[in-house]
Amino acid sequence: PSEVFAPRRNSQGFAMTDIVALEPLRQRLAALETQSFTAAAIVGGERRQGTAQARFSPIDLKRQIGTLVATDAAAVEQALNLADAAQDDWAATTAASRATLLDKAADLLEARQDEFLWLLSREAGKTLPDALGELREAVDYCRFYAHEARRLMGSAIALPGVTGESNELRLTGRGPFIAIAPWNFPLAIFLGQVTAALAAGNTVIAKPSRRTPLIGMRAIEALLDAGVPANVLHYLPGESGGLSDKLLGDHRVAGVAFTGSTGAAWKINRTLASRDSSIASLIAETGGLNAMIADSSAHVEQLIIDVLMSAFNSAGQRCSALRILLVQDDIADQVISRLGLAMQELRMGDPLQLSTDVGPTIDTLSQRDLKAYCDKLAGTAKLIATTPLPAELAGGCYFAPHAFEVSLDQLPTVETFGPVLHVARFKGDALADAVHRVNKLGFGLTMGVHTRLDSTVDVVRKLAKVGNLYINRNQIGAVVGSQPFGGEGLSGTGFKAGGPHYLLRFACERTLTINT
Ligand code: ALA
Repeated sequence: PSEVFAPRRNSQGFAMTDIVALEPLRQRLAALETQSFTAAAIVGGERRQGTAQARFSPIDLKRQIGTLVATDAAAVEQALNLADAAQDDWAATTAASRATLLDKAADLLEARQDEFLWLLSREAGKTLPDALGELREAVDYCRFYAHEARRLMGSAIALPGVTGESNELRLTGRGPFIAIAPWNFPLAIFLGQVTAALAAGNTVIAKPSRRTPLIGMRAIEALLDAGVPANVLHYLPGESGGLSDKLLGDHRVAGVAFTGSTGAAWKINRTLASRDSSIASLIAETGGLNAMIADSSAHVEQLIIDVLMSAFNSAGQRCSALRILLVQDDIADQVISRLGLAMQELRMGDPLQLSTDVGPTIDTLSQRDLKAYCDKLAGTAKLIATTPLPAELAGGCYFAPHAFEVSLDQLPTVETFGPVLHVARFKGDALADAVHRVNKLGFGLTMGVHTRLDSTVDVVRKLAKVGNLYINRNQIGAVVGSQPFGGEGLSGTGFKAGGPHYLLRFACERTLTINT
């Protein structure tokens, strides 16, 4: 690591294998089971009042975990007014003072660990290891962007000039930012977007996914409790499409940080482009049709472990998840048969049970779409296996992992956001062709390779158009500061979250020349 990165450490969390530490945590989480939260817009530090609608858990649709007061048009207007009015003062604060607030927020997130783990499990269906990983990632983003603000924005860069003239370049905030977050990382990605925008000196209007307003609310409250001024950060949950258009169409909005589907990013881009005002910056992280390539030298046992992790962890609801496994034909029969057996061993269940490998999908809509997709695919492709789905999970949004064998000409062309894996064989001399076929799908997020040959690594490294390439391991769970995350093509605009250039997308450059 470079010296600049040395002083910062990622959140340590704790080892899930440490049963002594785990048992008290399990007991504390069990004691939280009767909790209920109410999410509502927070504008200028005030919670908006209104009619609350019940929120249910994807683990059991009869289980109420809170209520939501949907955002109204007046709250949107007020958030825009306040964010705009607070912008100049916030941009004028020092990077060091903004960074201190974000460091404090990271400490608060860690102190509120139990509540976040419970919410991630009950509102977003995360297994305990996933929830812990997500909380750590959220903490890391706060500290990383604090560190980045100090590094990039702490002082101006002196530049050369003719005698009698001084020149300097500095970075400053762009203006009010809208952060639009996905439901699959309702804490980490949400806070990553928000804290990057804040660190760079922008006021923020934060919009969580309509599927996860409770987690989003507690995340924003941690930032406000850490001392982020009430007029600088606003929270708008549960607002409808019309209000989104109002936000995006407002000339005062200087930028949008969005994570979600490619289709939604196109729509946002069109709305921003149709404004007759400032040209807003769009930072979009979108979908993936991610492949893993295994040549005949692959270590099959390790491959199977990494396939299961990449394709079915988080019920396949990661943009980084493996969708297409390409196996060289020499080992394909062996891989397919072992994969089928291993899938039988995965356990589906309540995500807070330690024995659970796969929790629910996010809602009944997602469950229905996945079923329709698999029913259709079963007409043309061979089903390799499904994981057993226990009857007692019928009240929740569970969908069992499925793997299908398809031909190289049958690769999927759209992202299916769940635990569905496509497996195809490629011939011994067709490695480059396999990579080209994946490139042609147009996405460019993650790719995995399993091989013991340097020549295979060289070919894939040269040809693959992806943002994150993983060799001989799984392809999910990018670590902040170590594996900057984000794709190209249909997968996003860059720069990468958790990387050394990300904050630049949230800032303006200003040059000052003084004739002395
Ligand atoms: N950043 C998340 C991952 O790498 C999406 O899995």
